Amino acid sequence: MLSEFIMKERILTGIKPTGIPHIGNYFGAIKPAIDMSKNENYDCLYFIADYHALNIIKNKEDFEKYTYIIAATWLACGLDPNKVIFYKQSDLPEVFELNWILSNVTAKGLLNRAHAYKACVEKNLETGNDPDYGINMGLYNYPVLMAADILLMNSNKVPVGQDQKQHLEIARDIAIAFNNIYGKCFVLPQDLISETLGTLPGLDGRKMSKSYGNTITLFDDENTLKKQINRIVTDSKMPGEPKDTNCTLFQIYSLFASDEQKAEMKEKFENGIGWGEAKKQTFELINSYISPMREKYNYYMSNTQLIDQILQDGAKKARAIASDTLERVRKLIGKK
Ligand code: TRP
Repeated sequence: MLSEFIMKERILTGIKPTGIPHIGNYFGAIKPAIDMSKNENYDCLYFIADYHALNIIKNKEDFEKYTYIIAATWLACGLDPNKVIFYKQSDLPEVFELNWILSNVTAKGLLNRAHAYKACVEKNLETGNDPDYGINMGLYNYPVLMAADILLMNSNKVPVGQDQKQHLEIARDIAIAFNNIYGKCFVLPQDLISETLGTLPGLDGRKMSKSYGNTITLFDDENTLKKQINRIVTDSKMPGEPKDTNCTLFQIYSLFASDEQKAEMKEKFENGIGWGEAKKQTFELINSYISPMREKYNYYMSNTQLIDQILQDGAKKARAIASDTLERVRKLIGKK
């Protein structure tokens, strides 16, 4: 019976649907989150932060498309909707009510210091523009909406990339401000920073990132995968010359390889495998890893009604938690 009293840790993360997932996202965020969901000590909630994406996506076809792409990707990578509460942010009206309530305990100065906003202001100043040129309130309030996502679900741990660390600090500050004014209500969430994220090299050796155009996309067709792998930058050593394994190609190969496969490839490098051949073998390894997932991905993308159903079921479960928190919040602020 004691076990019933041991609270599971609640893990929550949001994925902004603004791009095509690549293998950096897979190893840095998707795979670790799915692995975590298989651990019985955790209670996981993963959601698609579609209203956060509104800040970037201003076209209705893309808005829907990217939500499906993200949902299909996570499902194809093995997310089990029976184990994880998997939902879409915009299906929870509670998030937006809490967002407003939290705005009223959030110091404006706190948001002035948020990196994303500050970076835009600084760029404007550099280019001689008005400091707030091109900046809308969605960007400014972004951290409050994120705090609402997190605090509403009583999340303890929030897996995010390094770039989101400050948003977690802001969420904690907002929780503390609310708790101080109205009495203890919110759990203070901690970030869980993924170590691999940010260190995966892209095709040109810099960090793999959509903004550098150096990604290996997860679920494009085989030909695209082949082309992307062929673009990996190498030195100009000829076949027969020993190669250094401290290079992008070997690092990317290693992500998908077993220890044994890695050792074998290392030997081939020492024995002077040609870059063309090494790339061919890298393609084969990655493709065999990705193929079964790609099939699932394509299946979901051509049956989006299945995605709708899964996300609706997830939203129902999420709303049960959300409405409970919101009810407590409403009582504390004095709403009848
Ligand atoms: N801001 C996050 C990102 O850009 C996405 C996000 C929205 C999120 N709400 C969240 C992440 C809540 C963790 C928790 O990646």
